[in-house]
Amino acid sequence: MKNKSNQTMRAVAIDEFGGIEKMKPRQLPVPEVATDEILVRVDTAGVGVWDPFEREGGFAKEFGMQARFPYVLGSDGAGTVERVGDQVHSFKRGDRVYGVNFMSPKGGFYAEYTVLKTNNAAMIPQALSTRDAGVLAVDGVTALNGLDKTLQLKAGESILILGASGGIGHLAVQLAKRMKARVLAVASGQDGVEFVKRLGADRVIDGRREDILKAAHEFAPKGLDAALLTAGGKAAEQAIAALREGGRVAYPNGVEDIPRASDGVKVMSYTWEPDPRMFSKLNELIDGGPFEVHIAQTFKLEDAAQAQQALNTHYLGKLALVLS
Ligand SMILES: NC(=O)c1ccc[n+]([C@@H]2O[C@H](COP(=O)([O-])OP(=O)(O)OC[C@H]3O[C@@H](n4cnc5c(N)ncnc54)[C@H](OP(=O)(O)O)[C@@H]3O)[C@@H](O)[C@H]2O)c1
Repeated sequence: MKNKSNQTMRAVAIDEFGGIEKMKPRQLPVPEVATDEILVRVDTAGVGVWDPFEREGGFAKEFGMQARFPYVLGSDGAGTVERVGDQVHSFKRGDRVYGVNFMSPKGGFYAEYTVLKTNNAAMIPQALSTRDAGVLAVDGVTALNGLDKTLQLKAGESILILGASGGIGHLAVQLAKRMKARVLAVASGQDGVEFVKRLGADRVIDGRREDILKAAHEFAPKGLDAALLTAGGKAAEQAIAALREGGRVAYPNGVEDIPRASDGVKVMSYTWEPDPRMFSKLNELIDGGPFEVHIAQTFKLEDAAQAQQALNTHYLGKLALVLS
């Protein structure tokens, strides 16, 4: 479907891959909608820890993709459906939606409008505001992929979640509780510990200061059944050492410095795969009671470069750009 009005929109784009200085506020055409796509008026865009890697061309190189410039960044977000393609029946104008737009040639979420394939979008769970849903898609699907598909976490099992006060971690803590697991959450800093206690973890420790092995032993004397790692290094090493014989460890690709498995423990890497089934399972779990999607700080679209700089600081949950 053509953008007949030749409408333009505010966006933050790059003309070539590179450093933060390449990010420029621009006026660009509103993307055109194909028959199987929806046009979304963006309310909130997630600022992912992987966004700088995309800006530098890391993903394009990794996936051998030819980028189209100007390139609008931003791989997840939420907003309202503005227009639907002729073959779209699952969404209508005015629906509140969230979704993933990863390396789309039509541009990402750092813009007033973005175009999504219907498989990459979902209705926002009743319990969430459009704002909060703006940071849910990638980290929510990644958390659920890890717990459900990769670890196959079962009710009654014990799980350690490392990086529990971060983007994936704070969602994974709540999802694992909904799946009836016992959760030992390893958060970052005293503020992280206070935050994750509020989310219902059975035990929370500060992984920057406390002894993870000792806490894990007290929590599960025979060893933990599973661990989801969203950070690497020494803390990840201790988490793996706390697993029982036959225990399972999962970490999303991108987490650096993950130690090799110790004897009898299976360590699995994985990557999120958004699809309607995964979104509906995520929504179902979220709607099962109070659920917090935490935005630590918001930035105006024009300040997207500042938001990416803030990724290097300590914060809880996620960062976001707000467009409304
Ligand atoms: N392949 C995929 O499908 C996929 C999808 C999404 C994300 N990822 C990757 O997954 C990783 C996590 O993503 P994210 O969005 O959750 O990032 P994030 O928000 O930065 O979460 C990581 C968290 O780990 C915390 N942390 C680091 N060391 C710790 C320690 N010793 N004890 C306790 N907490 C500690 C960090 O705290 P501080 O803030 O204090 O450092 C941060 O809160 C990233 O590498 C990302 O690229 C991969």
